[in-house]
Amino acid sequence: MTVPTLDFRDGSIRLLDQTKLPLETVFIECRDIPSVAEAITSLRVRGAPAIGLTAAFGVALAARLLADQHLAETEFRSGVSAAAAQLAATRPTAVNLFWALERMRAVLDASGGADSKQIAERLLLEATRMLKEDERCNRAMGRHGAELIPDGANILTHCNAGALATGAYGTALGVIQAAHEAGKRLHVWVDETRPLLQGARLTAWELREAGIPHTLITDNMAGHFMQRGQIDLAMVGADRIVANGDGANKIGTYSVAVLARAHALPFYFVAPTSTVDLSIADGHHIPIEERKPDEVTSFRGVRTAPEGTAVANPAFDVTPSRLVTAIVTERGIVRAPFAEGLRAALGNREETVVST
Ligand code: MRU
Repeated sequence: MTVPTLDFRDGSIRLLDQTKLPLETVFIECRDIPSVAEAITSLRVRGAPAIGLTAAFGVALAARLLADQHLAETEFRSGVSAAAAQLAATRPTAVNLFWALERMRAVLDASGGADSKQIAERLLLEATRMLKEDERCNRAMGRHGAELIPDGANILTHCNAGALATGAYGTALGVIQAAHEAGKRLHVWVDETRPLLQGARLTAWELREAGIPHTLITDNMAGHFMQRGQIDLAMVGADRIVANGDGANKIGTYSVAVLARAHALPFYFVAPTSTVDLSIADGHHIPIEERKPDEVTSFRGVRTAPEGTAVANPAFDVTPSRLVTAIVTERGIVRAPFAEGLRAALGNREETVVST
């Protein structure tokens, strides 16, 4: 995709406003922390890696703004930490957010003796490095994962795990893109992804831009097409994969995995190691974001359910690792037993080997 999801220029974070797609291509400029936090909370920028990167640039932005105020060192540092805390409170499920903030905190902690302008520069450098790493990771996942896609495959995907959800190239859609670039003939079934239609609005848009054949379906059609032998595999991104290989992704992913198993089809997660959280033993402990009821009772301001209807709106669900065929990471393809494979993959994270 040629349109950048996010970048930092002229002292502001420039984001493609994904709530406006596919009807309008609008960019917003965030010049303070409340506007960055609002952009994440309202899904102007969304997708686990993109959320983490935006938060990293948010911390860099906060440091710049505070550096201009010529504060005492302790006030400067506590201001940066407060901004990070505000960003951490935006969305609870995607661990990339906390991973990115932790990397920024490590830079802050390691910069004793530097003045606030120097620290702000180092933080911006770190966020920029993470953005570049993200694209490298995604391209590496593309190379590894493309091997899993046979020529002529019909692939089901859910939500959006493309360039829009990352710094560039995408995770699950990056693998599909890599297989397409390798000359394989593909067709993608795109789940529309209720309630916010990331599949219909974003994935269909990205696949059209990439020239990859695809068909949009509502979420409840996947079983029908599997039963008819028209889907060969399911491939999705993830927001948090924990130590035993259980993974949280957009609500509805679990149903896709159950259907895939019932039809003896492979189900793949594609996620960088920054999405892996070994501090959590299994999926029961992943925090699941509950979003506002009006996302379910109405669409774009038009009410679709009676006033006062009780609503549940979990934004993610957990797919147990027993339903997962393999996890594609930038370090290679991890298969069961996932606990060992994930530990080995995390031993070699990209940031430990990258130089600027
Ligand atoms: O609520 P969203 O749109 O941020 O949810 C995004 C997803 O669930 C994606 O599948 C996931 O973040 C992986 S993106 C590479």
